[in-house]
Amino acid sequence: THQWRGIIEEYRDRLPVSDTTPVVTLREGGTPLVPAQVLSERTGCEVHLKVEGANPTGSFKDRGMTMAISKAKEEGAKAVICASTGNTSASAAAYGVRAGMVSAVLVPQGKIALGKMGQALVHGAKILQVDGNFDDCLTLARALSDNYPVALVNSVNPVRIEGQKTAAFEIVDMLGDAPDIHVLPVGNAGNITAYWKGYKEYAADGVSTRTPRMWGFQASGSAPIVRGEVVKDPSTIATAIRIGNPASWDFALAARDESGGAIDEVTDREILRAYRLLASQEGVFVEPASAASVAGLLKAAEQGRVDPGQRIVCTVTGNGLKDPDWAVAGAPQPVTVPVDAATAAQRLGLV
Ligand code: F0G
Repeated sequence: THQWRGIIEEYRDRLPVSDTTPVVTLREGGTPLVPAQVLSERTGCEVHLKVEGANPTGSFKDRGMTMAISKAKEEGAKAVICASTGNTSASAAAYGVRAGMVSAVLVPQGKIALGKMGQALVHGAKILQVDGNFDDCLTLARALSDNYPVALVNSVNPVRIEGQKTAAFEIVDMLGDAPDIHVLPVGNAGNITAYWKGYKEYAADGVSTRTPRMWGFQASGSAPIVRGEVVKDPSTIATAIRIGNPASWDFALAARDESGGAIDEVTDREILRAYRLLASQEGVFVEPASAASVAGLLKAAEQGRVDPGQRIVCTVTGNGLKDPDWAVAGAPQPVTVPVDAATAAQRLGLV
């Protein structure tokens, strides 16, 4: 009879809600923290995966969206809007349904994974494909929310960050203290901002004794923070983090510097290698962008930058089913057999 109630009820005293805030929830959060055996062996550390693909719409965005939509409803909004590389739009669409609100989503044309598009469609969002990239979509979403009766639910909305910080709380609650290092993929840089806020709040209140070093990884073709300049035409197979001008850039730098951390890049090849390793060695199927955290950890370990014996958490941000093309690509086609046990046994190598 006791199930996880969603992040607002579980962490109510640490979130900007009141007794009169309508709670719009799909019982997000409470996601698995999975020990990663192969990654632990490879790094000589104790590595855990925070599996955010286990959220209701399959990504960490639900933590921020329960907050953003609840607050929008409290303020009387009838419609919400977001720019998205796919996951935010899927989440806004689902939570919009729960709230009885219209969700409008702006996505870069041809650059969002099919599963995410399917989610926005099936939840009945109003979708516009923008002839531009994510950064253009965000510019347009801001202009619309400034001038028309529609609330912006991107992570530039501070209540999104409030919701997403609960992932850090869950990790400390599970481990008993903060890890030594926390590793994340970085796109618009909202999530690294949110985790850092959560870790700092728990440390300030004495729930944890320390904060982790924050390590963020961008895709090489979309690495403005690493380069120190806006990337005009970002590219990467990890479409979720194909972003050239992150909205929370300064907050990401603060998280890096205050924590003694780092923001670095990984190539698409390194991302895909980590993506396959997670699926084939750890049993955890994530979308390519999510594998950037693990790719970054493996790269750092290979460069001798990871001291053994540390406790490390990698957030894997989205479910592999969002973008299955990369699982199928390059894999051998399954053979077809007749309804015959002897043939099947032979094909399976059982004889
Ligand atoms: N991983 C996934 C699966 C994402 O969808 C995103 C961002 C990130 C990582 C990066 O997080 O932006 O907070 O640094 N997706 C946004 C979207 C941009 O529209 O769904 P970030």
